[in-house]
Amino acid sequence: MRIGVLTAGGDCPGLNAVIRSVVHRAVVDRGDQVIGFEDGFRGLLEGRYRELDIDSVSGILARGGTILGSSRLERNRLREACDNAEAFRQELSLDALIPIGGEGTLTAARMLSDAGIPVVGVPKTIDNDISATDRTFGFDTAVGVATEAIDRLKTTAESHQRVMVVEVMGRHAGWIALEAGMAGGAHGICVPERPFQLDDLCKMIEDRFARGKKFAVICVAEGARPAEGTMPYERGAIDAYGHERFTGIGQRMASELEKRLGTEARAMILGHIQRGGTPTAYDRVLATRFGWHAVEAAHRGEFGMMTALRGTEIVMTPLAQATMELKRVPQNRMDETEAVF
Ligand code: F6P
Repeated sequence: MRIGVLTAGGDCPGLNAVIRSVVHRAVVDRGDQVIGFEDGFRGLLEGRYRELDIDSVSGILARGGTILGSSRLERNRLREACDNAEAFRQELSLDALIPIGGEGTLTAARMLSDAGIPVVGVPKTIDNDISATDRTFGFDTAVGVATEAIDRLKTTAESHQRVMVVEVMGRHAGWIALEAGMAGGAHGICVPERPFQLDDLCKMIEDRFARGKKFAVICVAEGARPAEGTMPYERGAIDAYGHERFTGIGQRMASELEKRLGTEARAMILGHIQRGGTPTAYDRVLATRFGWHAVEAAHRGEFGMMTALRGTEIVMTPLAQATMELKRVPQNRMDETEAVF
């Protein structure tokens, strides 16, 4: 078989582990040929690729980022490729394509699959918001980074009797904020799924100070929003990909808390540090399993599918199901901690 692999969208710890696993399973075990497209779908559309052998993936398991490079999706160009799918597949002599990516990439994968390209998707995102899989690799690493930040911010917050607001990633889903907030014992957690009540947050902080605990750490997802009319807030502009550009909810919240409480508050945007660097052991294992199963699915001819974690097992699930809607934090998970406001 000749298998193409690419990484698209925002990067994520564990991408290299998938690439390595695909090559190990396909080239070493099965005698396939694997080609890696450079810079995501751009490399696929421009025919920029290189052959991947065992040496080219040596030493990358623990490395963050992606050796293939990544890029955001150009939909018009992708539609063009879909229109000429069969010619395109023959030109590249592809028997299977394994795109590794988030919701946008898997939607593109589905478009290519519908157009006749034999696709097996692998889901990735630090946000953990892809439906049909219990977990995505990268999430565990991001939660670890954010948890460490909360631990560290607590000691400096306590020394200075301050409120520290840490803004973590999560445009549409608050998984990182929820789990890092729980693991780090944040006093307040705000997620996109529940508009937060600033008054309640203020009361919680005042109560803490009154009890002699003169500091607080609030973990807020970048996509969290105040409940209507509870604090001055304007929505961000919509960017070329249809996403709202964020206007720094962490900083806004810190300023507002400072004003209302008369207590010093500082904001800290964790940003891309959550996406960079070495993956945790958990993410390396999940990524490696996804890569192995993607190759197996290609050999079984199970196209238009994606690898997914269900419980402890890896299963194949239709791309159509995985891209239908994002997996948001459900009510019962928010109810498991009193810290969600
Ligand atoms: O989807 C992953 C993600 O990390 C989001 O949480 C975040 O909003 C976004 O990517 C940032 O993307 P960019 O790298 O384009 O700024």
